[in-house]
Formats: sequence, C-alpha cells, structure tokens
Amino acid sequence: MLSHEDNELLCRVGPGSTMGEMMRRFWMPAVVLNELEPDGKPIRIRLMGEDLVCFMDSNGEVGLLDEHCPHRGSSLALGANEDCGLRCLFHGWKFDVNGQCLDTPAEPENSKLAKAMKVKAYPTRVAGGMVWTYMGPEENQPEFPHFPWFDMPEGSCEAFRVIYECNYSQALEGAVDSSHAGVLHRSVPWSEEARWPHEKDLRPKLEVEFTRYGLRYCAVRNADESTKNGRMTQVPLPFYTFIPPDGPKAPEFRRNRRLINAFVPRDDETTWHIQFFYDAGQTIDRQHRIEESGVVWDENFFKTNGKDVWYNQNREAMKAKEGNMSGITGVALEDHAVSETMGRIADRTKEHLGRSDMAVVAFRRMMLRAARHFAETGEIPEANQAKFDWNEITAETFFFDPDKKWQDIQPLAEHLQPSEEAA
Ligand SMILES: [Fe+2]
Repeated sequence: MLSHEDNELLCRVGPGSTMGEMMRRFWMPAVVLNELEPDGKPIRIRLMGEDLVCFMDSNGEVGLLDEHCPHRGSSLALGANEDCGLRCLFHGWKFDVNGQCLDTPAEPENSKLAKAMKVKAYPTRVAGGMVWTYMGPEENQPEFPHFPWFDMPEGSCEAFRVIYECNYSQALEGAVDSSHAGVLHRSVPWSEEARWPHEKDLRPKLEVEFTRYGLRYCAVRNADESTKNGRMTQVPLPFYTFIPPDGPKAPEFRRNRRLINAFVPRDDETTWHIQFFYDAGQTIDRQHRIEESGVVWDENFFKTNGKDVWYNQNREAMKAKEGNMSGITGVALEDHAVSETMGRIADRTKEHLGRSDMAVVAFRRMMLRAARHFAETGEIPEANQAKFDWNEITAETFFFDPDKKWQDIQPLAEHLQPSEEAA
C-alpha cells in the first residue's frame, strides 16, 4: 500500500508535476511511423497532458507541434499539409516542423507577423519504427539513446500503440508482476495438469536488483526436480518493461522474440501502451501480433472491446473451459482488464500486498526515489540513456541448476550497479 501523498507523487504527470517533469527529461516514443506519410494526414496526439499534432512534411521530416494555432486556437490537425508545412484551415497560417511560422496570408503584404510567430514544437527522431520526442527543457536535452531494436533488419521490428484507460503506473505494474502469469493468462482449467512452467509453479520467487538504469527482477520457478526456470525482466526508468522471450524450450518462432513495453503517459488517467516486437532472425507479422494481443481500437486508439463492453468476457466459454480461462481473448486485453477495473487512478491506500507483489513495490520505490531526488536536485542521472550499452540490458529466459543463483547465470556488470544511495 501507499500513502495518499505518495500515490499522488507517483501518478500525477501533467505539466508542472514532479513526476511529469522528471519523465520529460527522457526521450519517449510517441507515434508509429507508418501512421505518417509525406504531406499526409496530420495525427492528433495527447502526450503528458498536452494536446499535440504530428505531421510528416514534403521532405519526410517529422514535426510535433502544439495542436492549437497560436492565432485563434483552431486545431492544426484540420490543416493542409503541403509544401513543407502545416497550414491552418482558418486563416492560412503555415508552420514548418520546427514550429516557425512561414506565412500569414490574411495579413497585410508587408506584415512581419509570420517572422515573429512560432508555435511550440518538440524535437523528434525516428528509430525502431517510431517517432520519438523530447518534451523537457531545451538545455537539458540528453543525447538520443540507442536501443537494440533500432538495429533490426527490415521487417524484424514492429510496433503498435493503443490507449490504456488508467494511469501509467498501474498499467506498468501489470508488467512487473510475473506471479499473475499462471493465473490471469492460464491456458488450462485448474483441474487439469498445467502446461507451462508458469502454470506448474504458481509461487515464483521474485528477486529485485536496483541498477543504474532502473531495476531488474527475476521470477524463479521450479521447472522440475532438477531444474529451475528464471524469467528476468528489465525495468528501465521511466516507463519501460523489457519482457523476456519464451526461451530455449519454446517453439522456434517464439524462442528469441522480444517484447518491449513503453507505458507513456497520455495524461494522468490514460496511457499509451506501446509495444515493440523484435527478433533479428525472423520477420514479425504486425497484424498477427495485434490479433494475438486481443486489443481492438478505433481511429483515436481507444479500445472498442474495453471496459464499456466488459472486455467481451465470454462466461459460457469460461464455464465450458474453452479457450482462455479468463473468458477474455488475448494476453494484452486480459492485462488491460485487470488494470483498468482498479479505476483510472487506483486508490493504493486500500490495497493488501503480498510476497507476489515484490517487484511492484520495488518499482514504486524506484519511481518515488527518482522523483524526490529530482525535486531536490533538479537532476535525473538515468535520463542520459545514451550512456548505456542497451545490448547489455536485455530480458532473458533461462534454465539452471537448483544449487545456483540466477545472478550466477545473469550477472549484473559492475558499471550497471547502482550508486550507493540507490542500492
Ligand atoms: Fe499479464
């Protein structure tokens, strides 16, 4: 459980909030690249409590601007995207990807208004099939990080985004919670013999280590009498989870396929759930991954099979023990259901946590500590993500002897160990 004050510090992410300002010091993924085309339709996107518009100009440059024209406030998303700029539909004010006004056609011919006029623009980068942005102060902008999925061959990394209708921390906590895998995502009835290690051993031992980049934790299960199964998840600040692949005993196509979650705040009460799938050795079928997730969304990225329709939970199928034991189709949709039904911002003063929530507790501790340190010093060392070699920070599934520790198999390099106060 958390005090009301700590819950507020953890969850409030709008402009001016401590957590929001801390997160803005990091580069963050925003729009999937294939949503944009040169001179194509501008995309409205709410991010960190701000309404923005994203567009690709005639040269393929990507702009991320305040949605509202600085003239009278109309949405620039209605505007014409042509000749290297976005032109407001109302009086024709035109802006380039840097937010500079290029033209004010309804003003007198000798008007200097355009030259002086700028709309708020955030810097963008394109990598890993996404448009990324930095929303913090210009003078604190860190170098752009280099994540492993940026280096995949064509077709071997795919991304999609959908709205989680709850606070970012709640959505993320579902992904640092290996204990729920054999219950919520159960594939066989309770009366039948379990199929997977996570169903056979419902009581994984969760062990957490704080690191320079955030934390990592391992869920250790008994695979059989003579083997342990480790699933090590990476949790880099401020909102990532790197989920381990299915591992050496899984079918070939799932063995090394990796999943990255980014839970990017849309505002206090909604979150962009961005998933990257990658595997250098295979082509990722994006449509198939979306179908497997179970999540279906409308043109504004809100789920059409969400809470309003009670996740289309199929009680007959549950009774008949057909398909998923949850009656909800798809792993991601199951996760959305349990997190969203806590409420948009869960009241964590009312929870009762157990041993299975170890990593959830550690995640909160990490976030609150980072936010407090930031409030006191104005610094957030982990925001310089370019200093890390992210190939050293992967999530792994592995099997090992019971007389060994998981850290023997996955030691944390010395330069990734936390500073003393964070240990
Ligand atoms: Fe889950």
